[in-house]
Amino acid sequence: MEFNNLLLEISDSIAVITLNRPKQLNALNKETIAELHQALEGLKNDAEVRVVILTGSGEKSFVAGADIKEFANFSVTEGTELAALGQTSLFDYIENYSKPVIAAVNGFALGGGLELAMSAHIRIASNNAKLGLPEVTLGLIPGYGGTQRLAQLVGKGRALEMILSAQMIKADRAYEMGLVNHLTELDELLPTAKGLAAKIAQNSPNAIHSAIKCVNAGYTDGMNGFKVEIEEFGKCFGTEDFTEGTTAFLEKRKPQF
Ligand code: HXC
Repeated sequence: MEFNNLLLEISDSIAVITLNRPKQLNALNKETIAELHQALEGLKNDAEVRVVILTGSGEKSFVAGADIKEFANFSVTEGTELAALGQTSLFDYIENYSKPVIAAVNGFALGGGLELAMSAHIRIASNNAKLGLPEVTLGLIPGYGGTQRLAQLVGKGRALEMILSAQMIKADRAYEMGLVNHLTELDELLPTAKGLAAKIAQNSPNAIHSAIKCVNAGYTDGMNGFKVEIEEFGKCFGTEDFTEGTTAFLEKRKPQF
């Protein structure tokens, strides 16, 4: 796969997608959103890949938001389409992706950039990272799911403070708030993300997909997470992964999924 704005590297069952528009601090333009979708769609069907890591190129920025130049003259209709298309084709898509997605946040994660990180299943930040939803300074609000996912991750009060004040928070504060799972030195960021990815990659891909569906169900209107858990739990018994996992346990060996 060839991209204008992304780098893709696959090794040891882990795909690292690097958003690569460093001059624009990796701001998300339409093309990058389409390329990210395309890259993820390709990796979905690649049995070799078990986990995806998203990061930004350079030492300064993960993603500094949606590309402001691109939408500066948008109408109401175009603005609505921007949010709707982005949410379905990328942000909701990542949240419901069948393989775990880890955001390795290596600098600014602002606006759409933080929304991208929040769509991922797990976030790890380097200690130079700065996170925020500054949209209200532009006369906008978060439009890629930020009002919902930030409140889910850190609670309503903290989310409202971040959104209404537009203030960036430092990585250590994001860690305290549970917005990121781990903090690392910048040069340890990718190794840490890959280490976690490698642990995940040893587990049953089928069970992992089921677990993602169940956790997400609890945050989805009209779905009963407990009910989905029962259904997904039952389905596991019909999979080769279940046979392999239980057989390996009984034979006192490591499972090979
Ligand atoms: C387009 C951007 C950009 C963005 C930075 N750049 N952020 N271009 N869209 N979101 C560009 C700058 O214009 C500049 O290009 C270059 O990147 C370097 O940025 P500087 O501002 O010179 O760097 P610095 O002074 O270090 O400041 C870094 C920064 C600042 C604090 C991150 O760039 C900034 O505030 N960026 C905007 C952050 C933001 O508001 N994000 C939310 C966007 S709205 P030139 O060509 O001048 O060198 C959003 C909505 C999502 O995300 C929902 C949509 C549906």
